[in-house]
Amino acid sequence: MKLSQRAKNIAPSATLAIAAKAKELRAQGKPILSFSAGEPDFTSPRAACDAAIEAIKRGETHYTPNSGIIELKKAISDYYRTRFGLDYPTAEIIVTSGAKPLLYEALQALVDPGDEVLLFAPAWVSYVEQINLAEGLAVPVKTLESGFVPTRDEIEKNITPGTTGMIINTPNNPTGAVYDEPTLRMLADVAVRHDLWIIFDEIYERLVYGVTKHINILQAAPEIRGRVILANGVSKAYCMTGWRIGYALGPREVIMKVDDIQSHLTSNASSIAQWASVGAIKEAESDVERCRVEFGKRRDLIYGLLSGIDGLHIQKPDGAFYAFVDIRGAKVPDDIEFCQRLLEERHVAVVPGAAFLAPGFLRMSYACSEADIKEGVARLAKFVDSL
Ligand SMILES: Cc1ncc(COP(=O)(O)O)c(C=O)c1O
Repeated sequence: MKLSQRAKNIAPSATLAIAAKAKELRAQGKPILSFSAGEPDFTSPRAACDAAIEAIKRGETHYTPNSGIIELKKAISDYYRTRFGLDYPTAEIIVTSGAKPLLYEALQALVDPGDEVLLFAPAWVSYVEQINLAEGLAVPVKTLESGFVPTRDEIEKNITPGTTGMIINTPNNPTGAVYDEPTLRMLADVAVRHDLWIIFDEIYERLVYGVTKHINILQAAPEIRGRVILANGVSKAYCMTGWRIGYALGPREVIMKVDDIQSHLTSNASSIAQWASVGAIKEAESDVERCRVEFGKRRDLIYGLLSGIDGLHIQKPDGAFYAFVDIRGAKVPDDIEFCQRLLEERHVAVVPGAAFLAPGFLRMSYACSEADIKEGVARLAKFVDSL
């Protein structure tokens, strides 16, 4: 069969590939410790599961409105009002089958062939592939020398007449960086000066530690509301990755177009999962806090242990559940070889930085037990020592 150029160009998700390789080795009986998963290891909240079971019993098993059930859109609207003081009517909200399809649909709605889209590297690699699928051009802006936070100088260097938008992700996957208010105001100002749209991916907004606060860009710069799509979902905050519910809030005309695209793609998100999400958003606040506190302890643990390894460098992550480690001081040619050898020789699975436009780094997810963190980092230290 002749494959399309589009299919030939697409790279598979490196994160999923490592996770699959780790599973394969584990099935062969190898004592694998995996730090590759981008998902919380806790079970979904009771309130979500009960709401789903009730929905099945009530027979909520049919198509729903394409953009989501009104009960969920109201719950999202109330949540944004309470949490961020932002008022979004339900007509400016769409529910999708996870945040990933939502980002795809939004980029299909916003990007014309050749449009340049800024993203801040290290970056979640699906952004790049999704921009490519929309025939746009992903333009990575470096943040390595500025503590994983973008600077105006670096951004301005990369803006051309072809730049149409930017994707902002805070708390950040893979770095764990959380953007402060002046940074968000600077980004808003750049968007206004250059007439750019913004996709603001805040899927990790509930997972910040210590004194760090997550700030929504519209809290920092309410005047740019007309050029912002807020992307969020229940996957990370409520430990509901398998249910596949994401959502977006934005200007009505854009949300309507995302709705049209979705109507030809997935139609509505799963009816049962939507009801589960109503249960989660309305009733699972204490579960969110319990997980956040637990992740905060693990963050401190992994940061302390990694900081003690000679030859590696780590900046303290403020949010999400990733440690992003600089291995440029280790005696291995590159991060891909480092990760392959670490997996084969010490049975520890981590994701190479190259998967996030950051060669020379690796990402460790600490969504696993404290015992695994201790053992995994000990194996990593021995590996680095052996080089
Ligand atoms: C930055 C970021 N955005 C969006 C997503 C998509 O989440 P989901 O499709 O599970 O809702 C992820 C998942 O890993 C992510 O890391």
